Amino acid sequence: MSTPSAAAQSLPATVGVLGGGRMGAGIAHAFLVAGAEEVVVVDVSQEAAQTAAAQITKDLEASLSRGKIDGELSRWTDRLTATAEVTAFARCGLVIEAVPEDLDLKVESLRRAEAQLAPEAWLATNTSSLSISTLAGHLQRPERFCGLHFFNPVPASKLVEVVLAERTGEELAALAPRWVESLSKTPVVVKDAPGFASSRLGVAIGLEAIRMVEEGVADPADIDNAMVLGYKFPIGPLALTDIVGLDVRLGIAEYLESQLGERFAPPQLMRDMVARGELGKKSGKGFYDYPEA
Ligand SMILES: NC(=O)c1ccc[n+]([C@@H]2O[C@H](COP(=O)([O-])OP(=O)(O)OC[C@H]3O[C@@H](n4cnc5c(N)ncnc54)[C@H](O)[C@@H]3O)[C@@H](O)[C@H]2O)c1
Repeated sequence: MSTPSAAAQSLPATVGVLGGGRMGAGIAHAFLVAGAEEVVVVDVSQEAAQTAAAQITKDLEASLSRGKIDGELSRWTDRLTATAEVTAFARCGLVIEAVPEDLDLKVESLRRAEAQLAPEAWLATNTSSLSISTLAGHLQRPERFCGLHFFNPVPASKLVEVVLAERTGEELAALAPRWVESLSKTPVVVKDAPGFASSRLGVAIGLEAIRMVEEGVADPADIDNAMVLGYKFPIGPLALTDIVGLDVRLGIAEYLESQLGERFAPPQLMRDMVARGELGKKSGKGFYDYPEA
């Protein structure tokens, strides 16, 4: 059972999230549950913001029914603001950017958010793979910026990578892991390097599994079972790729290939599946079928 006032001690009172999609909604949920006084979600349009609010409400209802939080739903939803107005970030002590994984879009979005922030506010990105130092290079206050890499689904994931760029200030380097602990998650502090600790290794295994399907080595279920039963992975690499989204993983692989070489080159099968709209769980079909999607 969460105790917001205690858990929230190290958190900024008002937290902003830019981009209320799969990850942004989860991040907003995490800060609400941890006791932030207000969470402000900004998306491209009022309609997109309302979609985010509906998802967060659904996640809060799930947390209530599982006994993770208690009280009336309104106790949590009253502290949520969903809007298309980026000016709402002016009252936030921390803003986390979670727009799609595209360098130009991230730079433009972070600069737009930073322009609204009070000078003492903090800024973070949830990028899975882009260089924090590159992003920091486009900002006015790079010492107040770091990576906070949440995992999907956020409510159930215990890990957050805290990614420190060369210009990340010491104060933020000390604060960010404490925020993660306040969310009842475990921080892993990593240096800014392509793919950080998790994506680099996770994507390498995922790409090799896709190459094995491509070469007809085994069926997806057998490849996944080999890792789950043989190596005690909690989930197989292909099932995980379906959950993350093939399009999301393709983007990360292309970036890692550009930074680390051809061992990260996306398999043709992956490109073909993305071109066919087989994006995994969210599209109803990936390496497995999801009739309910
Ligand atoms: N999906 C995952 O498993 C996962 C895990 C860890 C990190 N990430 C990273 O999180 C980020 C977001 O991924 P996602 O899966 O939530 O994507 P998503 O497509 O589900 O959500 C993106 C959201 O951003 C909004 N958006 C787009 N342009 C915007 C703009 N200019 N201003 C404000 N909002 C805008 C979209 O409307 C959408 O709501 C990416 O950087 C991704 O690499 C994703």
